[in-house]
Amino acid sequence: MAPIRDDTVTDLKDLVAKLEIRVRQLEDRLGRDGAKPRTPSQSMRMILMGPPGAGKGTQAPKIKDKYCVCHLATGDMLRAQVAKKTALGREAKKIMDQGGLVSDDIMVNMIKSELATNQECANGFILDGFPRTVAQAERLDQMLKEQQQPLKHAVELQIDDSLLVARVTGRLIHPASGRTYHKIFNPPKEHMKDDVTGEHLIQRTDDNAETLKKRLGTYHAQTAPVVSYYQKKGIWSGVDASQEPGAVWKSLLGVFGEEKPAHTGMGSSILSKIGLKS
Ligand code: AP5
Repeated sequence: MAPIRDDTVTDLKDLVAKLEIRVRQLEDRLGRDGAKPRTPSQSMRMILMGPPGAGKGTQAPKIKDKYCVCHLATGDMLRAQVAKKTALGREAKKIMDQGGLVSDDIMVNMIKSELATNQECANGFILDGFPRTVAQAERLDQMLKEQQQPLKHAVELQIDDSLLVARVTGRLIHPASGRTYHKIFNPPKEHMKDDVTGEHLIQRTDDNAETLKKRLGTYHAQTAPVVSYYQKKGIWSGVDASQEPGAVWKSLLGVFGEEKPAHTGMGSSILSKIGLKS
């Protein structure tokens, strides 16, 4: 029999650690599907804030997968209305292309209806791009108070405006799934084609330098005060969003109190459970 090498053992431990994480994700999903419903105190309820291009849409799907919650992105909801050419969509498109904000009433009612009817929200939610004004934050609090399901985290992705131009003007979107790419930082395998479906990628009409300037102005004037609102409530955390996406994800896990899995530790725990390690 060939001698056992250190790197073979390390590879095996890595594999076991990955399997253990996967098992935990599947157990979480079982919980969502009804086998082990989470109590309100266990479920994730959070908002993800940050200026345009900070990475909300990049990180939120990972949180959704990890905690089996719904991801409600108000910008995506509005763009769905634009695509359907509804009256709201036509009105919203004008406002979005000017870098302004759609009315608080419309946005609050959209979120209220999703939280009440979307089955995926039974285990909790991530709100991405909402609330964007203090008035929206107050109405969200009232709504959640009535359901006795207060927010747990308000996470702000912090990044300097100067880094956002390149991120936003290089962004590519797959409209059907919401998957995002970046021409330089995260290019699709094939030019302008979605990696999964092969369908054509587009650029958002508000993703140009001129509109971005207005969107940033709106963010600093109307959304920055929402940060102080949650700081006073004691649930705010800031994350450095100028790091590469993997490092931003690790920082987010830190906010949620998740420990980074130590491969040797995780591997050892499974090995010992199956009697291969004392
Ligand atoms: P919305 O769609 O919410 O746009 P936004 O807040 O401006 O945010 P973005 O989607 O532009 O950025 P993101 O943070 O998701 O960045 P992403 O992860 O894609 O809103 C659009 C409009 O709708 C608003 O202007 C407003 O008019 C209206 N609206 C929406 N909600 C509203 C509300 N509540 N009230 C009123 N009006 C509302 O990343 C950007 C790019 O960078 C990608 O290409 C990505 O690949 C890349 N990237 C991400 N992370 C990194 C990284 N760490 N390093 C390098 N590149 C990265």
